Amino acid sequence: MAKQAGLMRMRRLPTPVALALGVMLGMLLSRLFPWTNSTASWRTNTIPPKSHQQSRQPIQLPTLDKRARVLNLLTSLTPHYTKECTRNAQPLYSQQALERYAPLIGHKTPSTGSWFSKLFGDDDHVHGGSKELVPSDHKYFFAINLYNSFDVIPDLFATLFRVAAILGYHNVFVSIYENGSTDQTKALLRIFDALTRSVGMRITIRSSMRTRGAFNHRIEYLAEVRNAAFVPLHELRDAENEYFDTIIFMNDILPCIDDLLELIYQSRKNNAGITCAADYMYHQEIGAPVFYDNWVARDINGTALENAPFERIFHHEASSQRFQRHLPIQVQSCWNGIAILDPAPFYSPPHVRFRMARITEGECSASECSLICNDYWESGYGRIMMVPRVKLAYDRKVFDIIHPPRRNLTAIRGYARLGGLPDDPRTDPQDRAWFGPHDRLFTEEESEPLDFVPGPENVWCWGWDGAGDLDGPDVDPIWEPMSNKSRRADAVIVRHDRSIPGL
Ligand SMILES: *[C@@H]1O[C@H](CO)[C@@H](O)[C@H](O)[C@H]1NC(C)=O
Ligand SMILES: *[C@@H]1O[C@H](CO)[C@@H](O)[C@H](O)[C@H]1NC(C)=O
Ligand SMILES: *[C@@H]1O[C@H](CO)[C@@H](O)[C@H](O)[C@H]1NC(C)=O
Ligand SMILES: *[C@@H]1O[C@H](CO)[C@@H](O)[C@H](O)[C@H]1NC(C)=O
Ligand SMILES: *[C@@H]1O[C@H](CO)[C@@H](O)[C@H](O)[C@H]1NC(C)=O
Repeated sequence: MAKQAGLMRMRRLPTPVALALGVMLGMLLSRLFPWTNSTASWRTNTIPPKSHQQSRQPIQLPTLDKRARVLNLLTSLTPHYTKECTRNAQPLYSQQALERYAPLIGHKTPSTGSWFSKLFGDDDHVHGGSKELVPSDHKYFFAINLYNSFDVIPDLFATLFRVAAILGYHNVFVSIYENGSTDQTKALLRIFDALTRSVGMRITIRSSMRTRGAFNHRIEYLAEVRNAAFVPLHELRDAENEYFDTIIFMNDILPCIDDLLELIYQSRKNNAGITCAADYMYHQEIGAPVFYDNWVARDINGTALENAPFERIFHHEASSQRFQRHLPIQVQSCWNGIAILDPAPFYSPPHVRFRMARITEGECSASECSLICNDYWESGYGRIMMVPRVKLAYDRKVFDIIHPPRRNLTAIRGYARLGGLPDDPRTDPQDRAWFGPHDRLFTEEESEPLDFVPGPENVWCWGWDGAGDLDGPDVDPIWEPMSNKSRRADAVIVRHDRSIPGL
């Protein structure tokens, strides 16, 4: 209910440009009402025949009005977290984000005019006047693993719906694999399964009661759980000859809508094999969140990242410099809660998949996520990068610390007069702080393409054989030599152009 009230209040604001990105996208649909009868704003009015696997009888897609109601319903189901991310975004950030992500829009604009610019208050300079956006038909496959995720599901789906509303519902396929949850995850998933279908988005939810018992090796089990989420990717290729252009792999994490958009943007802009965010976990001794996934993340020299405050996370000096400026960084390996993958290595030989180490061949028993990064290098898709701007949390406490609300420093201490320029992303001390407000303005460097270099000679590997009781790496770490292939210049050339037209 509070959310509904929020929406009403927002609608009356004089300058739509000032509205928060997430709310704007919710409104995007409602603003489209007037065209519901006259213009086919969405590219497809019926589910394409190829999706008969999911829905046996041909069904009519809902009207925009109905879609908007589902979106409103969904947002009222999410009491916390991610709806806050973009709500009070500073106007300049909203404008930057809208310009940046507009080329990702995957549905047709009505020929009668630019609803997109109307949405942003007839701000013609935002999109160069009446220039029409060409809808993208880039196809996205969301693979999601869940386990006892009752608390995060409403947020996760709310974000998913908003992102899909931009990418185009018909461009999105969601595959969820849930393994043996003991809470009400399954029941909740059934609700969202129905809601997802009701807007014409395709979704497959598979549940398993299979436990680790059947597998000897911990990593083998984890790899199977991840592969299970990819099963529809292969099924759709085999049965319908349908290929996806980008895979978004998520754990039970709480991204904001612009977190996902930024990862997709960077992944496509750089034609990256794997693109990941940075995830944070609370460190009791330090008394603050620290970088979390150091088991997988390796800098471009092959050195592990640290569970440490931000200035000590990277050992590789140039990477550390970029990290502290929130700029994208090439890495040897990373995963960190969300990874955007180029599907090409899954589709073409040697067919990358999640796997455990080939221990008999002397391969170090790394995480299935490290191994897939190594396999991407091996198959010539070594363009792997991390986007530090996107900071992810696994719970509310960390979320609140890493995304503090923006304070009005002008009101507090006449900040502008002390030398801060309101529109300069480099002068607000809140934005220079590591855990700053979510609506940090973009700097030009964040849009520059990365220079990818060949992979390192050795990578620090901390193996986990899972023989003992240790719930984590249990083998002495080693510098594992990497193949010659991953160290050649052609390991980082662009093999699959997924770039955004016009960028
Ligand atoms: C849409 O069509 C219905 C009936 O055809 C009509 O009652 C309604 O006013 C129309 N809505 C708009 C926004 O044109
Ligand atoms: C389900 O998979 C997750 C990893 O995705 C794992 O942590 C969890 O233990 C598994 N659940 C069961 C019941 O085995
Ligand atoms: C910040 O505070 C100043 C002074 O009270 C006010 O003029 C300004 O509009 C405020 N800015 C925002 C973004 O609220
Ligand atoms: C770079 O990697 C080598 C191993 O290949 C290691 O000995 C060295 O310490 C690393 N340098 C940094 C700065 O991490
Ligand atoms: C890799 O390169 C090294 C030196 O450049 C060479 O000695 C070695 O035989 C190569 N290995 C393979 C498998 O080609």
